[in-house]
Amino acid sequence: MATINDNFLKLQAGYLFPEIGRRVDEFAKANPDAAAKIIKLGIGDVTEPLPEACVVAMHKAVDDLSSRDSFHGYGPSEGYDWLREVIVEHDYRARGCDISADEVFISDGSKCDSAGILDILGGDNIIAVTDPVYPVYVDTNVMAGNTGGADGDGRYGGLVYLPVTAENNFTPALPTSKVDVIYLCYPNNPTGSVATKQTLQKWVDYAKVHGSLILFDAAYEAYITEPGIPRSIYEIPGAREVAIEFRSFSKNAGFTGTRCAFTVVPKGLTGRAADGSDVELHGLWQRRQSTKFNGVSYIVQRGAEAVYSEAGQQQIAGLVSFYLENARIIREALERAGMTVFGGVSAPYVWIKTPAGQSSWEFFDTLLRDTHIVGTPGSGFGAAGEGYLRLSAFNSRENVEEAMRRIGAVLAV
Ligand code: MLT
Repeated sequence: MATINDNFLKLQAGYLFPEIGRRVDEFAKANPDAAAKIIKLGIGDVTEPLPEACVVAMHKAVDDLSSRDSFHGYGPSEGYDWLREVIVEHDYRARGCDISADEVFISDGSKCDSAGILDILGGDNIIAVTDPVYPVYVDTNVMAGNTGGADGDGRYGGLVYLPVTAENNFTPALPTSKVDVIYLCYPNNPTGSVATKQTLQKWVDYAKVHGSLILFDAAYEAYITEPGIPRSIYEIPGAREVAIEFRSFSKNAGFTGTRCAFTVVPKGLTGRAADGSDVELHGLWQRRQSTKFNGVSYIVQRGAEAVYSEAGQQQIAGLVSFYLENARIIREALERAGMTVFGGVSAPYVWIKTPAGQSSWEFFDTLLRDTHIVGTPGSGFGAAGEGYLRLSAFNSRENVEEAMRRIGAVLAV
């Protein structure tokens, strides 16, 4: 009989979002009258239509495929140059970041890339994650065999957890011992916090001193409203030598279903081989992608290219402000109801302290039962997320307003 990857048996429960979906379905089955009233502010999935500029570009791309002269079969696994060029121009050069087009790898998602990157890293790295954290970083390390089993709080042996809580203003302290790989996500999922230049500079300096690699997830950079907050780790001097950056079209242009993202692996960024030599990660990622990935469809890449047109830029700015306005409505309604809330200013997530005495899952159940609103329990993001719940601003205005009316009525009682 074929054997299995036993590391999967170490994983706690299901992946967070399907697990929430399962509980919501169970509730809806048991309470058919409430089912139609459920409003989902759990997973950060967009609700508004794609920007018109992207739709037009994708229609045109379909037409291209209908004629032999403009047909495209397999594309380059790292993405078409015209998309890589326009990304570099707008997202990096315009911000003074020294990144070139051949350092950008187009992909179908930051989630896949932040998981896939482990293919090119050794199994003996000491890995640090913030706590709470986007669960993919942890679970993929468990699957890859980079951890031990979980303790009673769900923390896996071998990982270094860096708590981010209200007490430290959601800014993790540098590790007290040497770590080899550090996952950072800013604007942060799930807490909605941001990192200043000084904070990121500390991480870059730490990584340089210790030879560490920073895996920087900037999927929510479009939501930054506070002045002076960096949108890319490459705005920090020295970051090219220590960091890989993940970016996505999911949250700025609504591509969660369409799928397009990119990962930047600077040339000159190296890791250590078993024989002690330094090897460029760029070449390894190129090799990995060309073997395991056939590229994002031509149609979708044309859609992503249109994000950078004048119309596309205006339209995505409109989408982002729409969701940020939802976040403001959520934040202010909860504050009026006497809750303590964080985030939601430069991020589409509002991080809420649960009412006294309620655990994250208890507050999740209370909200579902009494208001039919679905949030994400903070403890699902890590032990230090216990006592918090995340609400996502990705929904229609009507649903957000209705959700806040219901929550306000229940919490005010
Ligand atoms: C979330 O809700 O945390 C995100 O939607 C997850 C993701 O982007 O994969």
